[in-house]
Amino acid sequence: MPTPNSLDAFWMPFTPNRAFKADPRMVVRAEGMHYYAPDGRAILDATAGLWCVAAGHCRTRIVEAIRAAAGELDYATNFNLGSPSAFEFANRLGEILPDQLDRIFFTNSGSESADTALKIALAYQKARGKPGKYRLIGRERGYHGTNFGGISVGGIVRNRMTYGPMVAGVDHLPHTLDIARNAFSRGEPPHGVEFGDALERLVQLHDASTIAAVIVEPVAGSTGVIVPPKGYLKRLRELCTKHDILLIYDEVITGFGRLGAPFAADYFGVKPDILTMAKAITNAAVPMGAVACSREIYETILANSETPIELFHGYTTSGHPLACAAGLATLDVYRDERLFERAAELAPYWEDAMHSLRDAPHVIDIRNLGLIGGIELEPRAGAPMQRGLEVFRACFDAGVLIRVTGDILAFSPPLIIEKAQIDLIAETVRTALKQVA
Ligand SMILES: Cc1ncc(COP(=O)(O)O)c(C=O)c1O
Repeated sequence: MPTPNSLDAFWMPFTPNRAFKADPRMVVRAEGMHYYAPDGRAILDATAGLWCVAAGHCRTRIVEAIRAAAGELDYATNFNLGSPSAFEFANRLGEILPDQLDRIFFTNSGSESADTALKIALAYQKARGKPGKYRLIGRERGYHGTNFGGISVGGIVRNRMTYGPMVAGVDHLPHTLDIARNAFSRGEPPHGVEFGDALERLVQLHDASTIAAVIVEPVAGSTGVIVPPKGYLKRLRELCTKHDILLIYDEVITGFGRLGAPFAADYFGVKPDILTMAKAITNAAVPMGAVACSREIYETILANSETPIELFHGYTTSGHPLACAAGLATLDVYRDERLFERAAELAPYWEDAMHSLRDAPHVIDIRNLGLIGGIELEPRAGAPMQRGLEVFRACFDAGVLIRVTGDILAFSPPLIIEKAQIDLIAETVRTALKQVA
């Protein structure tokens, strides 16, 4: 174990650094459904890392592909120079993305994907002769990463309040969590389609001629698992189409089988104009993100460009050879092991396991869809977030890694999970809930 001092230099992201470094939790190895602590203890991963290791940890095919790529072409810019794996990976992604949503821009993370998507939306409106359509509409409680575009359209106050006035011209839809009407809904909650009508009000306020795009997570994860009410996404799509506004889905957590379909767009049967990805795109073995755009958007921007470079945007490591190799191998694993179908088959069992905790102490709501689960706890009086943190710690000590956002427990296991492991997660959480005050 490193001495406490040796933990000082690394400024850990989204972590209470002082508390963590006083009482660290470390993992040193991972395989399949498990992490391993320095003392060899196995910890069942009920979070797929951070919603990203969909095929399970250290999958041999992915590891081997990365190794081979690293020895063949360690790096090449994709600025005005091509490397074959980036083209191949874009083509392969296009094969599983919804129809016509197959023009792919590579990034390195979900945050970069969100900002890239917003910039492409603005570039498209300008290219089609509507530069006055500049407003970006996000949603309360939305999470689109931590860059300035993402936090501007995002709606998590702690992520925004420190960083000044944000990107101009942004407004927000209301979030759709409605525990009073929808507590303990299985799957899509029945009430709340009318939350989508708030877009109509924003159009009345700002006029559609000033609005470029709406961005939402089809299922919000980071803010505590918010499943869209029945018909909500369809309503948003209809209003976007009616008012000539682009619809962007942030599929950073819902992409690649999490709901039992390739993308949430497939699961809900409602297609966006732009779709962001990251995390499971490479099984998180190499950082990568991507933005899928409709052909119409891509072709409009290319056809109307006043300069040889059509989009002044990109990253040094956009389409990095190691990431593309990892991504190609990951898609092979998803296909050959039918992991998206497997998630769909397991979803009812998962739903039952999550809802079996309805009578456990402190539970005020349970939400689920696909292989996602959220359990909302009543906050302890005078100490919000404390109970959630204690449940997290109790589960970890008992050998199960869950995720906690405030007093909401979030679950997103790898799609290779077995039924017995689902049972173990539910039992461990029940025991932890009984232990905490
Ligand atoms: C919907 C959504 N968008 C964007 C992000 C940001 O991704 P990253 O942490 O890779 O920047 C996340 C991360 O959880 C996310 O859930």
